Amino acid sequence: FFAHDGNRFLEGKTVLVTAGPTRERIDPVRYLSNDSSGKMGYALAEAAERLGARVILVSGPVRLQKPFGVEVEEVESAEEMYRAVLRHFPRADIVIKAAAVADYRPKRAEPEKIKKNGGGMTIELEPTVDILKELGKRKEGQFLVGFAAETENIEEYALKKLKEKNADMIIANNVKEEGAGFGTDTNIVTVFTSAGEKKAYPIMAKQRLAYEIFKEIDRNMRASRK
Ligand code: CTP
Ligand code: CA
Repeated sequence: FFAHDGNRFLEGKTVLVTAGPTRERIDPVRYLSNDSSGKMGYALAEAAERLGARVILVSGPVRLQKPFGVEVEEVESAEEMYRAVLRHFPRADIVIKAAAVADYRPKRAEPEKIKKNGGGMTIELEPTVDILKELGKRKEGQFLVGFAAETENIEEYALKKLKEKNADMIIANNVKEEGAGFGTDTNIVTVFTSAGEKKAYPIMAKQRLAYEIFKEIDRNMRASRK
């Protein structure tokens, strides 16, 4: 693991992290999902715990070990994640939405396994709730952090998300870049804050990056409380 300097600067804080993909049911044996491994979110939860925080991790289905000392709540769909996050939100000081929430879900989850019929088929989709955006409307002092997974126009899209979701920080990564994004053990990110700051990080292990992100969050929280 990444050993930080023993400074527990998140002592007394509650950190809520979401991680992993969501699964949107088509029928009892099929779903829509994405390639998120959950590694970044789990690294953040683990780092926050080591830094002294009380940590709640709302996790989609992943193949990772539960981080020590962290309260884990497992969810499947975007809707379930939304409900779990809303429940914990009032007690949180810092909220980090690292989950790759599905943007769409089937309009109808069939109660029985769909049988093939020899021809093609169409699944009608509807949008899921934008959890981060909803939190942005409801926040009362929580420091709200989102991710932006992009393949082009990173800065433009990241700034748009920062504003539209009323976030305090957006961590943008180019998921097409080697060593960044889904499934990898490393990430390459640029952090944008509502205070107008921009900071690009070199390629780093997700554990190390998690620690750097909390240092940045802590600095921003202290600066805004002056
Ligand atoms: N997010 C969320 N709920 C959703 C979709 C996204 O809370 N239904 C959050 C993600 O957890 C992430 C941030 O919003 O912190 C940005 O997610 P991203 O997929 O990059 O952006 P979207 O707003 O979904 O837009 P698009 O996928 O079109 O780029
Ligand atoms: Ca999305």
